[in-house]
Amino acid sequence: MSTLTEPASAPTATPSVIDLEKQYLLQNYARYPVVIRRGKGAWMFDDQGRRYLDFISGIGVNALGHAHPRIVEVIRQQVDSLIHCSNLYYHDYQGPLAKKLAEVSGLNRSFFCNSGTEAMEGAIKMCRAHGNRISREKYELVTLDNSFHGRTVGAISVTGQPKYRQDFEPLLPGVRFVPPGDAAALEAAVSERTAGILIELIQGEGGVYPMNAEYARLARTLADKYDALLVFDEIQCGVGRPGKYFAYQLMDPVVLPDIMVAAKPLACGLPLGCIVSNERAAPSLAAGMHGSTFGGGALACRVALEFFDILGELLPQVVRVGDYFRARLRDLAGRYPFITDVRGFGLMVGAELSFPGKQIVLDAMERGLLINCTHEKVLRFLPPYIVTENEVDIAIGVLDEIFALQKEA
Ligand SMILES: Cc1ncc(COP(=O)(O)O)c(C=O)c1O
Repeated sequence: MSTLTEPASAPTATPSVIDLEKQYLLQNYARYPVVIRRGKGAWMFDDQGRRYLDFISGIGVNALGHAHPRIVEVIRQQVDSLIHCSNLYYHDYQGPLAKKLAEVSGLNRSFFCNSGTEAMEGAIKMCRAHGNRISREKYELVTLDNSFHGRTVGAISVTGQPKYRQDFEPLLPGVRFVPPGDAAALEAAVSERTAGILIELIQGEGGVYPMNAEYARLARTLADKYDALLVFDEIQCGVGRPGKYFAYQLMDPVVLPDIMVAAKPLACGLPLGCIVSNERAAPSLAAGMHGSTFGGGALACRVALEFFDILGELLPQVVRVGDYFRARLRDLAGRYPFITDVRGFGLMVGAELSFPGKQIVLDAMERGLLINCTHEKVLRFLPPYIVTENEVDIAIGVLDEIFALQKEA
């Protein structure tokens, strides 16, 4: 596919923006040399007028794509009346959003924060407080190898990838890592000392690896047996992305956790995270034990309510287009044997390669398609939920072109 262009609408500022960042920002991000200026639907446009089909959605954030008219409209209305008032007072949107979350999740008490890692941090505190009430010895957290739970100190302590932890050790004590999906290892790790079991049902950063229903059920059984809290991290794999509201609803019957944490797409690009818990876990946080200055602001909560209003109707499309996308990727896998697996649910899709995928990401960007590679060899696709079959066809065309060159090389 040749790159589609539109006339640049403003003079280019690329060198100075990039230079300023190089001079004044902490150099913790390895950014691509692209300056994004605006987005519309599933497309983004850079300062050179180049357009890109966005199959990463701000790493799973822009669920409704860019500049969705209903989201733009509620933001316009809400900034005119109230953006933030702190958690000292009530406002019109936190209660209704918590009610909506209760309806769609099957868990009934929410806490709002600003990001995924902050939600995870709160969930860890809930596990620790729950354990502490029972015994000072009950503080262990059982979590999975290959997981990713965020970047704060608590979250990296339970993240099962040494590269995220090693520069910051020593971290939280009492964390036990087990191989994902290994029932015997999970059974051996959970005991009377366990305060919480933390699971990402579809590991995102770890390469789009789903856990099966038996494993989820075993975690539930062990949490009940040892009076530990079961926490599902739905930050990447939840909130509509798997074609259900939450990944634990893919299981039949549904395996309910005690605590679920979510973030990324909740407020369509505004920062919002949440902890949603059942009545068993909720008392672990009493008044004054946790809080957030920005969390659950009026603007973010109102946008999330609007998002949930739209999401209900979008879920069938997420399932349909996701199935179509995986089928088309499997066709490619039939022709290119170096694609060793295609997996995922809804619009959380992974294609594993037999070689590192970094160059494929660059080649795709060159051709106007934004994707990501994680776990070295897994191409990860997190397109917006509004993506169409036609846009999937465009993405597949780009990948086909790149893979054909790979085959020749
Ligand atoms: C499963 C999971 N948990 C936690 C996080 C951390 O979320 P945030 O970057 O919003 O802090 C992420 C982010 O990618 C994630 O994928």
